[in-house]
Amino acid sequence: MPVSSHRKENLNKMAQPGAVAVQPGAGAGLTAAQRSNFSPLTALGYSSWRRVSLGLLAGEPFGLRREAALFRDRCRPAAGQWWLDAGTSTGFYAGVLAAAGCRVLAADLSPAMLREGARQQPAAEIDWAQLNIERSDLPADRFDGVTVGATLNETHDPARFLRELARVIRPGGQLWLMYLQRTGGPLQALLARPALGGLSFPDPAWVARQLPGCALTDGLSMGAVRFERYQKAAPIPGLDQT
Ligand SMILES: C[S@@+](CC[C@H](N)C(=O)[O-])C[C@H]1O[C@@H](n2cnc3c(N)ncnc32)[C@H](O)[C@@H]1O
Repeated sequence: MPVSSHRKENLNKMAQPGAVAVQPGAGAGLTAAQRSNFSPLTALGYSSWRRVSLGLLAGEPFGLRREAALFRDRCRPAAGQWWLDAGTSTGFYAGVLAAAGCRVLAADLSPAMLREGARQQPAAEIDWAQLNIERSDLPADRFDGVTVGATLNETHDPARFLRELARVIRPGGQLWLMYLQRTGGPLQALLARPALGGLSFPDPAWVARQLPGCALTDGLSMGAVRFERYQKAAPIPGLDQT
């Protein structure tokens, strides 16, 4: 089922291009970090932070161009493919995918982020939707690929979030993760406290265990920043799957 028809059935209809489809109840039971993204001020400032943040966290020059080039090199997104950008914020990965000719469902909990994303990335290939990816009700095996830029650190239940992503990727499809991995430092311990963000800093081995049926093909660490590409197993032709 095309994503657009799924959305028409499960979400409010888009009123106009660039409008945001809304999932009822998407904002229930969130971490403090998730809630902070609902502020229009956070959405306004987010892209400026995003431009410099990886360089600061990786401990070496790491601008958006380098990140986009790394993603394209490892995942080779192709025109006509369907991608989900899970926790898109202002649409960095959605924009990279649209420029490659992919159709993108750019999903986020925060209407303020989605509005800012639609303003910054006006490509017709992108549909914007307010969804909680942990319980999105998107169809299984739907997407050729999923991008996740740091959403894993913020989401309320990272294991459930990853399970959902593995479910919606088609067999043979790919998952691109960028996240801050566990370093064991005091700052991460502080930011993990519910009142101070409730962030998670997963260990790569833990991430792999949440993605049964997906194989890690690429893993790259730069300081606290971790990039990974997974591929979902495809059925072997002629082999009985029962
Ligand atoms: C750190 S920002 C990452 C933005 C973007 N992926 C990027 O690469 O610039 C995380 C975003 O994920 C969204 N988010 C967090 N948990 C989510 C969830 N369960 N479902 C959908 N969006 C989520 C937040 O609202 C926020 O905009």
